[in-house]
Amino acid sequence: MTRPSRWPAVLQAVMKGQPRAFADSHYPQWHPAPVTGLMNDPNGFIWFAGRYHLFYQWNPLDCDHRYKCWGHWSSADLVHWQHEPMALMPDEEYDRSGCYSGSAVDNNGVLTLCYTGNVKFDDGSRTAWQCLAEEQDDGSFKKRGPVLPLPEGYTGHVRDPKVWQHDGQWYMVLGAQDLQKRGKVLLFNSADLYSWQPCGEIAGHGVNGMTDAGYMWECPDLFALDGTHILICCPQGLAREPHRYLNTYPATWMSGAFDYQHAAFDHGELHELDAGFEFYAPQTTTAEDGRRILIGWMGVPDGEEMLQPTRAHGWIHQMTCPRELAYRDGTLWQTPIRELAQLREAEHQWQGNASDAPILDAARLEFEIAASHLNVDFGGAIRLTMDENGLRLERASLSTGETLTRYWQGEVRHIRVLCDRSSVEIFINGGEGVMSSRYFPVHPAQVRFEGASNITLRYWSLRSCMIE
Ligand code: FRU
Repeated sequence: MTRPSRWPAVLQAVMKGQPRAFADSHYPQWHPAPVTGLMNDPNGFIWFAGRYHLFYQWNPLDCDHRYKCWGHWSSADLVHWQHEPMALMPDEEYDRSGCYSGSAVDNNGVLTLCYTGNVKFDDGSRTAWQCLAEEQDDGSFKKRGPVLPLPEGYTGHVRDPKVWQHDGQWYMVLGAQDLQKRGKVLLFNSADLYSWQPCGEIAGHGVNGMTDAGYMWECPDLFALDGTHILICCPQGLAREPHRYLNTYPATWMSGAFDYQHAAFDHGELHELDAGFEFYAPQTTTAEDGRRILIGWMGVPDGEEMLQPTRAHGWIHQMTCPRELAYRDGTLWQTPIRELAQLREAEHQWQGNASDAPILDAARLEFEIAASHLNVDFGGAIRLTMDENGLRLERASLSTGETLTRYWQGEVRHIRVLCDRSSVEIFINGGEGVMSSRYFPVHPAQVRFEGASNITLRYWSLRSCMIE
């Protein structure tokens, strides 16, 4: 270790912070969230030796982005999580400005983390090292140091290695910015995880005729799904459109044919992965039974995040629920994983005029509605409108108070909504679209249905399931 240890400060922050966070009425009851400080991207999501592991970008010391460790949770079923020893702290020269995002692989039975060592200089410039760390018998991780310096032709913004194995070779995609400040996804390969060869750019500005693709692409994830390949990534600097790309930065996907021989990805257009107010930096893994599971950060950097009221309670942000992905009819479908049904208490059914529907407690709730016209009010703090144009989600700006709107356009027949104390996730038509958003109602908060149409409603209250 070459830098002063922050362990005493981290321990104190956790001891002081956890009781404050748990006393906050907005603290999630079944979504993973930090016990103190700021959490952002899911990292190192993997099923390994019989358990799922989910690491996360974590600043235990403050509700800001200045210090980045890797926290670590594990689970047998993706629903009940437990705390594991913190995995990485920025205590080496090559990661001194943060152990940034990355992935995990099973390297001959050794759980191995691939992450970005971020280094910022006093003149405002930065560099990045792609690094490895291996799990030890006591659950700690031993850093193996940098395995890839900044590739030539790019700025210091090269990060977020997603590594996988194919036909005995390792592959890695990286988010990058070229010297003209244009966003790219780079591909590398390796026989041993330690020595990496560049294979070129597989997406971003200038690839497959793409232009105006923003200035930096973060958190790429490339995988095979249902006969195609999907690339998920987070392009920064995409132009806002009237009904999409309205958040500071979007998370997007594209599908196409990936050719390992020529290291080329022949892909279609970009699509927004989630149409809600908060969703960014998702990561996927393969479940024990082969399902492709995605978890996202239910937050977005550089927008109104620093105005969220939970900061006053010493914590900020949460994960989305785990979602199963499928590719069908040219669309990427997302549905909550079936394991979440364990959280359901007794099922209720109701049919009739929307405005006569029962008023529900918003705190821990799942409901499904077959309808095409409807309004749903969540504790007076976020409002959903369903009509012939699709869905609109409205809430007040935390800075100006003006009404902000997010849209999902298309024919809506059915919605399934998962609520926690300060989040709603709306799954449209069985997963054709999703809108994920945080909101901060006064609890007890009510979900009220409004409108003249006839609806069929099924609902459950959900058990609380905190990380142990
Ligand atoms: C995405 C991101 C990544 C980076 C990490 C730092 O939210 O900016 O690109 O590795 O967060 O916390």
